[in-house]
Amino acid sequence: MKRMVNATTAALCIGLALMWLGGCKKSTSSGDQDTSEIIVGEYASLTGTTATFGNSTHRGTQMAIDDANAAGGVNGRKLRLVTEDDQSKPDIARTVVTRLITQEKAVAILGEVASTRSMAAAPVCQQYKVPMISPSSTNPAVTDAGDYIFRVCFTDDFQAAVVAHFAYDQGFRKVAIFKDIKNDYSVAFAANFGAEIKRLGGTVAAEQFFQEGDTDFKAQLTTLASAKPDAVLVPGYYSEVGTIARQAREVGLKAPLLGGDGWDSPKLVPGAGGPGGALEGCFFSNHYFSSELKEEVTQTFLGAFRKKYQLDPDALAALGYDAARLLVDALKRAGTTDRAKLRDAIAATKDFPGVTGKITLDAKRNARKAALILKVEGDKFRVYKSYTPEQIGQ
Ligand code: PHE
Repeated sequence: MKRMVNATTAALCIGLALMWLGGCKKSTSSGDQDTSEIIVGEYASLTGTTATFGNSTHRGTQMAIDDANAAGGVNGRKLRLVTEDDQSKPDIARTVVTRLITQEKAVAILGEVASTRSMAAAPVCQQYKVPMISPSSTNPAVTDAGDYIFRVCFTDDFQAAVVAHFAYDQGFRKVAIFKDIKNDYSVAFAANFGAEIKRLGGTVAAEQFFQEGDTDFKAQLTTLASAKPDAVLVPGYYSEVGTIARQAREVGLKAPLLGGDGWDSPKLVPGAGGPGGALEGCFFSNHYFSSELKEEVTQTFLGAFRKKYQLDPDALAALGYDAARLLVDALKRAGTTDRAKLRDAIAATKDFPGVTGKITLDAKRNARKAALILKVEGDKFRVYKSYTPEQIGQ
């Protein structure tokens, strides 16, 4: 009897040891060759309708990872950024994020820019309990997917309210709205803007919608023109805004157009007919402008980015950089790649010196920052105004 127990115990021990070895083998083989690398996943629109968003963000993200590696990595381990192109499509975003988690064993996921794509992939990250940090998705619902979903930017209940205050302050009291009905960012932006302008005492005289990929907007623009608005809010992406602006002028809609961060692209002004074209003198809100913020971290970033890419970083690049740096900081603080502990470290982020401003993640895993209003002048954008949450009573 005693011998039998011993034999059973021995078999159990061997079994456990094998399981342990097996477990180790599994985890050490996850990084392909180099077992010491920490894999960070990124999904981005490198191609498709909003390709400038993904490429710009990726530059900032890659720079932050390269910087971290040049400084010795995280707790003695190097980082490797694995980037997947989602082709600007929500269903592909979901597929590639699943791959980054299950095949690449990413410790965390960075992305996306567009709210609709973040909202498609966030439930996957939440399901696998892998932290996701969106650099720039502003629809309030993005982080509602669960406690593993974060963002380093402000949300549209703030951004759209800022544009409403700005419109009101400029004397644009009677406004019209032209939104992309299939775009979660656009729909929420329009709703928040409309509510705030009414609260301030303005009116929404007309509202029309379009869909990404449309090329003829004249019927809706004619309807909007007949309401004689002081300004028209177009909370869309650069991919349509340029054409909308040109066609607005063609149908006699001369009022200034107002927008949000979705206008931020080197392709915005060319799409509107170039410098002095249909968007001249128009305004949009944004997260960051390279020459505006004088903090040392911002100026260092600007110099390093120009050196690396021979380009000026836009808000997307800056937010991509901030999201990745915040993740690196949380990995260091966590001292482990255990995803639950990493999640807790990200959630505890306080006063992180981002290039887009100080980042403290609140209970809903969002950041609170000021917004800028940029004015289109020639082929450049100029900072016209800025609003803090306090200034607009938030
Ligand atoms: N905020 C936009 C969205 O949620 C994306 C965006 C951010 C676009 C910053 C440009 C610049 O869809």
